[in-house]
Amino acid sequence: MSLAVSLLLVALCAGAGYGEEGTRAQKAGHVSVVVVGGTGDLARKYLWQGFFQLYVSQVSGGNTFSFYGGGLSPSEQATPVLFEILKAVTCSKDVSQDRCAILKDQFLRLSQYRQLKTLEDYQELARHIEQQLQQEGMTEAGRLFYLSVPAFAYAGVAEKINSSCRPAGGTWLRVVLEKPFGHDYLSAQVLATELLGALKDEEMYRIDHYLGKQVVSKILPFRMENRKFLDPIWNRHHIERIEIVLKETLDVKGRISFYDEYGVIRDVLQNHLTEVMTLLTMKLPANVSNSGEVLRNKREVLGSMLPLGKNQAVVGQYQNYKTEVQQELNKTKEYVSLTSTFAAVLAHIEDAQYEGVPVLLISGKMLDERVGYARVLFKNDVFCLQSHNNVHCKPKQIVFHFGHGSLKYPAVLVSKNLFKPVLKGGEWKEVTEHKDVDVLGLHISDYFVQTPTTEREAYAELIHHIFAGQKNNFVSTENLLASWEVWTPLLSALRASFPRIYPGGADNGDMLDVHLRGKEIRFNSEAVIISPDQAGGPSASSFQVMQGKFRSAEMVSAWSEELVERLAADMQEAAEAAVREGGIFHLALSGGSTPLALFRRLVLHHFSFPWRDTHVWMVDERCVPLTEADSNFHSMHEHLLQHVRIPYYNIHPMPVQLNQRLCVEEDGGAQLYEKEINKLVNVSSFHFVLLGVGYDGHTASLFPGGKLNETGGSLVALTESPIKPHQRMSLTFSAINRARTVALLVMGKGKHELVTQLSRVKDNLEKYPVTWVKPDNGRLVWYIDYDALLG
Ligand SMILES: *[C@@H]1O[C@H](CO)[C@@H](O)[C@H](O)[C@H]1NC(C)=O
Ligand SMILES: *[C@@H]1O[C@H](CO)[C@@H](O)[C@H](O)[C@H]1NC(C)=O
Ligand SMILES: *[C@@H]1O[C@H](CO)[C@@H](O)[C@H](O)[C@H]1NC(C)=O
Ligand SMILES: *[C@@H]1O[C@H](CO)[C@@H](O)[C@H](O)[C@H]1NC(C)=O
Ligand SMILES: *[C@@H]1O[C@H](CO)[C@@H](O)[C@H](O)[C@H]1NC(C)=O
Repeated sequence: MSLAVSLLLVALCAGAGYGEEGTRAQKAGHVSVVVVGGTGDLARKYLWQGFFQLYVSQVSGGNTFSFYGGGLSPSEQATPVLFEILKAVTCSKDVSQDRCAILKDQFLRLSQYRQLKTLEDYQELARHIEQQLQQEGMTEAGRLFYLSVPAFAYAGVAEKINSSCRPAGGTWLRVVLEKPFGHDYLSAQVLATELLGALKDEEMYRIDHYLGKQVVSKILPFRMENRKFLDPIWNRHHIERIEIVLKETLDVKGRISFYDEYGVIRDVLQNHLTEVMTLLTMKLPANVSNSGEVLRNKREVLGSMLPLGKNQAVVGQYQNYKTEVQQELNKTKEYVSLTSTFAAVLAHIEDAQYEGVPVLLISGKMLDERVGYARVLFKNDVFCLQSHNNVHCKPKQIVFHFGHGSLKYPAVLVSKNLFKPVLKGGEWKEVTEHKDVDVLGLHISDYFVQTPTTEREAYAELIHHIFAGQKNNFVSTENLLASWEVWTPLLSALRASFPRIYPGGADNGDMLDVHLRGKEIRFNSEAVIISPDQAGGPSASSFQVMQGKFRSAEMVSAWSEELVERLAADMQEAAEAAVREGGIFHLALSGGSTPLALFRRLVLHHFSFPWRDTHVWMVDERCVPLTEADSNFHSMHEHLLQHVRIPYYNIHPMPVQLNQRLCVEEDGGAQLYEKEINKLVNVSSFHFVLLGVGYDGHTASLFPGGKLNETGGSLVALTESPIKPHQRMSLTFSAINRARTVALLVMGKGKHELVTQLSRVKDNLEKYPVTWVKPDNGRLVWYIDYDALLG
C-alpha cells in the first residue's frame, strides 16, 4: 500500500509549522484537500502547483495529506486529465532533482480524481475520507475545499459541503472562494447571505490573489519597518498623489461571455486595486498578523472615501472589442456593448491624513505594456536653477513594483532623495547591479531597490496562509460589502456612458492620458475616435435645461442632475456679484433632504465659491440639540460646511438650545437670532434664500393652519409642525420676502401632485403657505425637476 508508505515517511519527520497563528490554531494530523473544479484553467495554471509547494514545505511538518481533484465529469474521463496536470508541477531551485522526483511521486500517489456532482458524490467523498482515517489510524487535522468553479455554483457546493462534508468537532473546515463575489452591492449581499447559511464566516477564505503578490504583501511591513522615515511625510502635506496601476496588453477574446457582464471596474478596480489602496492608506495596525485589526483598519479607509460619481471616472473600450462581442455572443452588426475595458478613477480619502490627496486607480486591456505598480509621489519643493541632474531636483517617489514592465521583477523602489529603506530578515535583498532602465521617470540608479530573495507565486503564498489559518490577506464579508458600497454608485452612474474607443497597443498614444481638475478626472485630449455605429443610441444628454414661468414667477426645469447643476451655478453667480458689490454674501439655507444634492454639487464642483466671504444662515431648525442627526444644522454641517473653507464665525446656527432647554419662549432664542441678523445683514435682506416645499405646501417651518399671520413684523419665530419634532424655529415671511433672491427647489415624482395643485391655486396662506413667498423687491425663482413637473 503505497499510501501507507509515504505517510509513514512523512510521520517520521518532525519540524516547525508555517505561521505563528497557524501552529497555535491547529493540531497536527491528516489534512484532506479538495479542489472542486480541479481540472479547470486556474487549477491547471496555479492551484496544483501551489498545493504541491504546500506539500513540499509540510513534508517534515508532522501533517499528512490527501488531495482530491473534483469535477463534474465522470472519473474514467477526467482522471487522466488530472494526472497530466499533476505531472507538470515543479520544485523550487533549492530542491535537488532526486528529492524532487521522490516528492512528486509521493504527491501523485496521494492524489486522486473524484466526480463531485450530486449530494451523494459529496457524501461518498466524506465516507471515503473517514474510512481512510480509520484504516490508517490517523487523527484528522482539517479539510480544505478550494472552489474553483463559476460563482453561480458557490451556494450549491457550499450547501453540499455543509450537509455532508463537515468534519467532526475540533477539526477545521476551510472553504476557499474566488472572485467574482457579486456584480454590485445587492448581488454581493445576496451571495454572502446564501453562503453564510452554509458556512461560518471564519470558515470562508475569499481570495484576492493580489494580496498574495510578494510586493503587495510587503506594503504593510514596509510601512512599519520604515516608520521613522515615513511618519513625517505619509500625509497630505507631503504626498502629491497616489497611483495604482495595472496595465495589460492582452485582449479578452474567448472570455467575452464573462467579461461583458463585468468590465474592468468589477474585474480589477473593485477588488485588486482597492485592496492595494487600503494597504497604502490604512492606519498601521499594532500587530500585522492580527487579522481583525487589519481588516477593520482597511474598512475604515473605505468608509472615509468621498462618493464616486460620473465625474470621478473616465472609461474606454478597445476598438476590436465590439467585433469580438458580436462574434462570441452571436450578435448582429448593430449590437453595441458599453462595457469598459479601460477605466481611470479618481478617489479621495477624506480624513485629516489624506484630505485632498488624489488617488488614481487605473487599469485596462490592450494597453502598450504589461505592468502593475503603486506609486506614491511626493511633493518636491526644491527648485533647481541649473543642475537638473542633481538628485534633489528629481521626482521623489516610492514605487511598489508588482512585476513585469521595464524592470521585469517584483521590487520596492525608493528614490534616493527620500531615504534608504530598512532591510529586515532574509526574505528581501538589496539590488545594486542594474541593467540600464528607467522606472516611472527615474533611472534605476536613482533608486534604492529591494527585491524578494526568491520569487513566489501569489496562489502558492495564499495557499500557505489558508493552511496556516491566517486570515489577514483575505477578504471578509464586511470588507467586501464596504468595497461594493463604494463602487456600486459609480457603476450605476456609468451605465449609459459611452466608453472612448481606443485602437489598442502602442497606437493608443496619448488617447488615454487623463487630467485631474479638483475632484474631477477627464481625458486629457478631446479627440475621440467614434465609429459611426458607436454614435447614436440612448444618449443621456439629449434633454436641455428649460426655462419658463410657474405661478407667474421665473421657473427653471431640467432632469434633477442638470437642475442642481444650474442652481449651484446661479448661487455662485449671486455670491460673486454680492462679494464684488459689498464684500460679503448672506446665504440662508433650509434643512431637509432636498438640498443635499445641491450641497454635494457645491462641495465637489464649486471650488471657487467665495466661502471666505459668505455667511451661512438657517432658514429653519428643529428644536433638538445641534449635535443630533435630526438637527438641520447637523445635516448641513455634515454635508456642506465641514467640506468647504468657510470661517467658523461666518456660520450662524439657530439658538434653539438656551439655558439647557429647547425652544422656550422666555429664553428669547428667536429674538436673539433676529438681533444677529439685524446686526450683520444690511437692511436684514439676505442675498439668497434657498427654500424647499413640503407635500403639505409648507415652506421653511411655516406650516398650513399655523398662526403665521401673528408674527407681526418679526423676522424669526417659534412655530409648530404637525410632524415630530413638533417645535421649530423659522424665518418668517417678513424675513424671507425681504431677500434679494429666493430659490424654491422642488424635486422628485412624489411632488408632482403638489406642483400640479400649486400651478392652479390662488395665494392661500392657510392651506399653502408657500404661496406667501413673494419677495418685496427681489426675485423668486422656482427650480423644479422634470420628475416633479411632468410626473
Ligand atoms: C449547516 O447545516 C446544518 C444542518 O445540517 C444547519 O443547521 C446549519 O445552520 C448550516 N450552516 C452552518 C453555518 O453550519
Ligand atoms: C499578533 O497577533 C497574532 C494573531 O492574533 C498573535 O498570535 C500574536 O501573539 C500577536 N502578537 C503580538 C505581539 O501581540
Ligand atoms: C447564432 O444566431 C443564429 C441566428 O439567430 C442562430 O441560428 C445560431 O444557432 C446561433 N448560434 C449560436 C452558437 O448561438
Ligand atoms: C444696504 O442696502 C441698501 C438698500 O438695498 C443699499 O442702498 C445700501 O447701499 C446697502 N449698504 C451696504 C453697505 O451694502
Ligand atoms: C392677517 O391678519 C390681518 C389682520 O390681523 C388680516 O387683515 C388678514 O386678512 C390676515 N391674512 C390672512 C391671510 O389671514
